[in-house]
Amino acid sequence: MEELIRKITDLIRNSQKVIVFTGAGVSTESGIPDFRSPGGVWQKYNPEDFYYQKFISSEESREKYWQMSREFYEPLKNAQPNAAHQAVAELEKMGKLDCVITQNIDNLHQRAGSSPQKVIELHGTAVSVSCLACRKKYTREEIQSWLVRGVKVPQCDACGGILKPDTVSFGQSMPARETEEAFHRARNCDLFIVIGSSLVVQPAASVPLEAKEAGAKLVIINREPTYHDSHADVVIHGSAGEVMSKVLKNLKTS
Ligand code: APR
Repeated sequence: MEELIRKITDLIRNSQKVIVFTGAGVSTESGIPDFRSPGGVWQKYNPEDFYYQKFISSEESREKYWQMSREFYEPLKNAQPNAAHQAVAELEKMGKLDCVITQNIDNLHQRAGSSPQKVIELHGTAVSVSCLACRKKYTREEIQSWLVRGVKVPQCDACGGILKPDTVSFGQSMPARETEEAFHRARNCDLFIVIGSSLVVQPAASVPLEAKEAGAKLVIINREPTYHDSHADVVIHGSAGEVMSKVLKNLKTS
């Protein structure tokens, strides 16, 4: 492990434009469950129930969605950024970071100090809710107070339209600007570091390969093997917080 951490440290030291790409695994040490580890979200809930088409076409699906959303909002709201998020914010302070591309919706990179304009949220954010008809925006906190008060399926109080968190559901189109920018930046970086993603969901999982094909070095830090380990220059199977803390410590002490 130490040898691999030294390799990653050297790669960062010799890079000017580092991209960090994160998935749910970077937030599990903050108390937010990931999706595909044992006990993850998709073992508790059936992803089929959370397709966008179902959500907009049936009141019953919306009720099920909001029940899950209400349950997961508490750990999300109380979560604190962990050592991995803080290490990424440190890389920005060192002038090494081109951007963070995240599949996460928990806003923890921003709360750890990463500049919002340097965080590309491919799957949207859970901190706000929009009306799908008139686009009126609400804070997720406000909608949580409605749910706690007993509202089963929140509706827009301006036009009666369907409310949905600003996250990207299966079957919903990806945010075009963010997706475009992620691929563009991946093609122009010199080091691409994946932290805490199984790399199975497209098109996000293709971004690391785009960087590799354009000539960047690829590092994968993940507890389990990922779908793209064979394409990486360095792979570490370990904890995001522990590995990134050691990498930052090495960078600062030499
Ligand atoms: N340190 C390192 N890796 C970790 C840690 C940790 N503390 N905790 C979990 N992991 C790893 C797991 O081994 C797993 O391979 O993080 C990975 C998380 O993978 P997923 O649960 O599939 O999450 P992610 O890759 O972000 O999923 C992508 O799928 O359901 C959709 O929209 C959702 O954004 C999500 C997308």
